[in-house]
Amino acid sequence: MGGALVDTYGREIMDLRVSVTDRCNLRCHYCMPAEGLAWAPKEQELEFAEIERLVSLFADLGVRSVRLTGGEPLVRKNLPELVERIAAIDAIEDISLTTNGILLEQLIEPLVQAGLTRVNVSLDALTPERYREITRRNGLQKVIAGLAALERYPQLGPIKVNVVAVRGMSDLEILEFAELARRRPYVVRFLEFMPLDADEQWSDDVLLTGAEIRRVVESMHDLVPLAAESAATSSRFAFADNAGEIGFVSPVSEPFCGTCDRARLTADGQLRTCLFALGETDLRGPMREGVTNGELEELIRGAIWRKPAGHKIGEDSFTQPARWMSQIGG
Ligand code: 5AD
Ligand code: SF4
Repeated sequence: MGGALVDTYGREIMDLRVSVTDRCNLRCHYCMPAEGLAWAPKEQELEFAEIERLVSLFADLGVRSVRLTGGEPLVRKNLPELVERIAAIDAIEDISLTTNGILLEQLIEPLVQAGLTRVNVSLDALTPERYREITRRNGLQKVIAGLAALERYPQLGPIKVNVVAVRGMSDLEILEFAELARRRPYVVRFLEFMPLDADEQWSDDVLLTGAEIRRVVESMHDLVPLAAESAATSSRFAFADNAGEIGFVSPVSEPFCGTCDRARLTADGQLRTCLFALGETDLRGPMREGVTNGELEELIRGAIWRKPAGHKIGEDSFTQPARWMSQIGG
């Protein structure tokens, strides 16, 4: 193998996001339309053996962490089996999961047994009515139960709660989420809304920035900045009285494209080098036609080499990709 995976800007790919399905049991307004989307046909979905082959190859090329996403990854059948297969790949040090938490309580035990190391739970509201308004489904209690279940596994890293910030929705509960971070062992992180929604409702007007949210939190609590991890996407803060941690992921107002070390594999086997890339590289077709690992490696290296410098949100030339969040993977 010819060394690490690098792009034209010298960024090295260390982290692979693997979407295991484009299906979801919620319909969050910032992601899917109310009526859902036409799901990819099952035969286009990568099989576990195909995902395993690609992750092994990426591991040979320097990838060290894998995050499983969706749609909602827990609706994919037998997910613990995939986790076990990925955990068996030596170079992979970290297998994390981004989930909406609905099925977490019933699945966490086998997932941890299989080798899962970290979990991020998406949760945008703490009252049942607002939860329903945002996700267009009931389920807040299940998510809360899923989070509680995570607390039983100290071997998991810090439990993270991701809140997508949308003006007029999540700004109503900022201080409640701050309380959640203070009272429970959860790191609460506010994510800026990105133009990846199927309803194409994103605009500057609904963008609620990390800085704005921080000001609201700081009207009640003193925050102390914490050191950033390498290739970090979030700015982290501790509450000055030592009661917990919050963070802000601000890809729109404070882009971190310059240190991005991520690549994404969609459920139907397309390699995407940026959430906002307009093109992608098909790996499913070539794999099913019987290419060798060497040939796959060439395809992957070429795609990574062309990784875009960054997104162009807010610029005149910005074009929303033809895939929406649930079809890419967060
Ligand atoms: N902007 C920002 N985050 C989003 N997510 C889904 N759609 C968007 C969007 N348009 C988040 C989910 C989850 C992760 C997979 O991505 O809430 O936390
Ligand atoms: Fe499902 Fe996640 Fe999209 Fe919500 S944001 S509809 S939970 S995929």
